[in-house]
Amino acid sequence: MKVAVVGATGLVGTEMLKVLAERNFPVTELLPVASARSVGQEIEFQGKKYKVVSMDDALAARPAVAIFSAGGAISLQEAPRFAAAGTVVIDNSSAWRMDPTKKLVVPEINAHTLTADDKIIANPNCSTIQLVVALNELHKRYRATRIVVSTYQSVTGTGKQAVDQMMQERAGQTAGNPAYPHRIDLNVLPHIDVFQDNGYTKEEMKMVLETKKIFRDDSIRLTATTVRVPVIGGHSEAVNVEFAQEFDLAEVRELLRQTEGVELVDDVKNNVYPMPQGAHGRDAVLVGRLRRDETQPKTLNMWVVADNLRKGAATNAVQIAEVLLEMGLLK
Ligand SMILES: NC(=O)c1ccc[n+]([C@@H]2O[C@H](COP(=O)([O-])OP(=O)(O)OC[C@H]3O[C@@H](n4cnc5c(N)ncnc54)[C@H](OP(=O)(O)O)[C@@H]3O)[C@@H](O)[C@H]2O)c1
Repeated sequence: MKVAVVGATGLVGTEMLKVLAERNFPVTELLPVASARSVGQEIEFQGKKYKVVSMDDALAARPAVAIFSAGGAISLQEAPRFAAAGTVVIDNSSAWRMDPTKKLVVPEINAHTLTADDKIIANPNCSTIQLVVALNELHKRYRATRIVVSTYQSVTGTGKQAVDQMMQERAGQTAGNPAYPHRIDLNVLPHIDVFQDNGYTKEEMKMVLETKKIFRDDSIRLTATTVRVPVIGGHSEAVNVEFAQEFDLAEVRELLRQTEGVELVDDVKNNVYPMPQGAHGRDAVLVGRLRRDETQPKTLNMWVVADNLRKGAATNAVQIAEVLLEMGLLK
């Protein structure tokens, strides 16, 4: 199967190639696409060398599937061209997520809704994916009515330029081409993506809107504060969730143990809880620090960590491709 990876030289694209190889996705011909700066550069995939090609060359090769991770503007412009040529596009940017004609897919929750008509499929935002995976079974059992989430997000969520900025600052240098408006090393920025008219950032509003869309439940009230921290390895989230039904903590633990994609990491007596260092390079969404909110009934506090480049981006996209393959929708 011909597979195009658009943004193949980026942080998400590089992880995408790793995940495709690890999961033995049946790639017969890889079409790695990047900007004009990188065309001709060699990358390695499954022991073979491939040259980075231009968008037009990849399109002309008519891949069965194209996985886009090269920013929203490129997805808006290029994804429809691939779709028109018969390629199924799985898009990691925010370009199509809230388009009512496009599906926003987390395979553990809503892969069954995919059909042959879905030519552009949106991968949700990384901070939304780990939240909804962690909540999936709990929401089915007790129905989440209100969620308050504060995030602690890795610099890898911003891309190569941000990792370079942090590493240069850490080495005592002034970053040449900073990704953020402030220093990130030894600092915390309550600012991810652009500010909106309502005072929230776009990242915060993505969590609100995408969660409702994925759970097909507009009644969920969610409020978020998204924060960048000088961390590599994964995003962390403090989640306070109020349910319609009363819950039992032992049952919550059992439900989380049974939740697809979740690993319960919760043994505080032995200082065991999820951390980005434990999530790095892994696909599981780690959940721990489970406790009742003692200030109001039916409310749970938990701590959720996942590698934003894996389940938050590459793994989720490849899982969507695997479902399409199983359903016979990739030609
Ligand atoms: N990082 C995350 O956790 C995360 C999670 C979910 C979704 N995403 C989304 O994934 C996308 C990429 O993120 P990233 O973190 O991988 O960024 P990144 O490290 O900066 O990589 C960007 C990639 O896009 C390519 N690119 C830039 N301009 C292009 C053009 N005109 N035509 C073709 N390719 C072009 C770059 O190629 P060159 O190397 O040639 O510049 C590079 O391969 C963004 O839309 C982001 O929102 C990121």
